[in-house]
Formats: sequence, C-alpha cells, structure tokens
Amino acid sequence: MSVYKVGYIIGSLASVSINRLLAEALIKVASEKLEFSEIEIKDLPLYNYEHDPDYPPVARAFKQAIAEVDAVLFVTPEYNRAIPGALKNAFDWASRPYGQNSFTGKPTAIIGTSPGMIGTALAQRELRGLLNFSHAPLMTFPGAYIQFKPDLITDDGEITVESTREFLSSFMAAFLEFIQQVYVVLPR
Ligand code: FNR
Repeated sequence: MSVYKVGYIIGSLASVSINRLLAEALIKVASEKLEFSEIEIKDLPLYNYEHDPDYPPVARAFKQAIAEVDAVLFVTPEYNRAIPGALKNAFDWASRPYGQNSFTGKPTAIIGTSPGMIGTALAQRELRGLLNFSHAPLMTFPGAYIQFKPDLITDDGEITVESTREFLSSFMAAFLEFIQQVYVVLPR
C-alpha cells in the first residue's frame, strides 16, 4: 500500500481556531493511505528578502518540512476577505530564495471554515492564485467552503452532522485520488 505524507498548514494562529478543529476532523475521516503532520507557521518572523542568502533556522526548518511531505493541505480562515497575514508571510518564506519555491510540483488542496455563509471562499480564491503562481498542482474539485456552526465539530474532532461528515470524507478521498494522479505524471 502506497502511503502519502501530507503536511497540513493551518492559516490561523489562534489556539482556539475553528480551522484547527476542522483539520483534526479531516484527519479522522481521511484514508489510512494518508499520513499527516502539521507544518507550523507561528514561529516564522516576518519575511524580508535580505534573509535570502542565509535563511534563519526556523525558516529552513519550515522549507525542509514542506520538502519532506508528498502533499500539502491548507486549512485556512478568511480575514478581511483575504488569507491571514501569517499565512501570506509563510507563503513568502516558502517561495524563496528565487528559483527554490517549496510548493512547486507539490500536490495541494485548500479548505477552510468560517461562521460566515461564504465559508472562506474569497480567501481560498486568493490562495489558489498564489499556488498557481508557484506551479503547484492544485485540486480544484470539489470546492469546500464550510460554514462553521457551534458544535459542528466536537473538541476532539468528531463531526456531529452526518451530511458534513460524508462531504468532508469525500473531500479527503478526492485529495488522495488527486495525489495519486499527480504522482503518476510526476513520480516521487
Ligand atoms: C474575521 N472573520 C471573517 N470571516 C469571514 O468569513 N470573512 C472575513 O473576511 C472575516 N474577516 C475577519 C477578520 C479578522 C481580523 C478576524 C479576526 C476575523 C471571522 C472569522 O471567520 C472567525 O474569527 C473565525 O473564527 C476565524 O477562524 P480561526 O482563526 O478561528 O480558525
């Protein structure tokens, strides 16, 4: 059985993040063929291109963590109709030094949750643009814009609404299939 390592990046720094909760729920409904590890962004300083010749250890570790996984799942909130600043900052670190974009060729998917009805759609649209620019293969279907309601996901990551559980499970199944397809074309 081929197992794929998936690094997940949570766009929120909040300890009580509903997107962190969503990530925990996604891991529970995903296939055993996906092995998850979090790629943390909270300790990255603000990016500045003067670091390019000599990245600080935390940024090297961040790029190394991306290099070590087969795919990346972004689970992000929407702040002010855009991705959170912390996530854009992490993206900038990953994209440099020039010619060494960590996301190039890496299968990716995006999902997010918000109490609002559009469920992070605008943040996701922005992130899609960044990933396209990075030449990252991106799963474009199904889209997953999750409106968060209190008690939708328990503190230990159990999804309480059956239709949402089924949808999130099918989203993760589609991601596995997408990763497999990418590696047929671009072998590991
Ligand atoms: C928000 N929120 C929000 N929600 C949304 O659907 N669209 C938006 O543009 C914004 N903008 C926004 C800006 C800022 C600065 C904050 C703090 C919040 C509400 C947001 O969805 C809610 O706080 C979620 O709990 C954020 O997800 P995490 O951080 O808990 O995962």
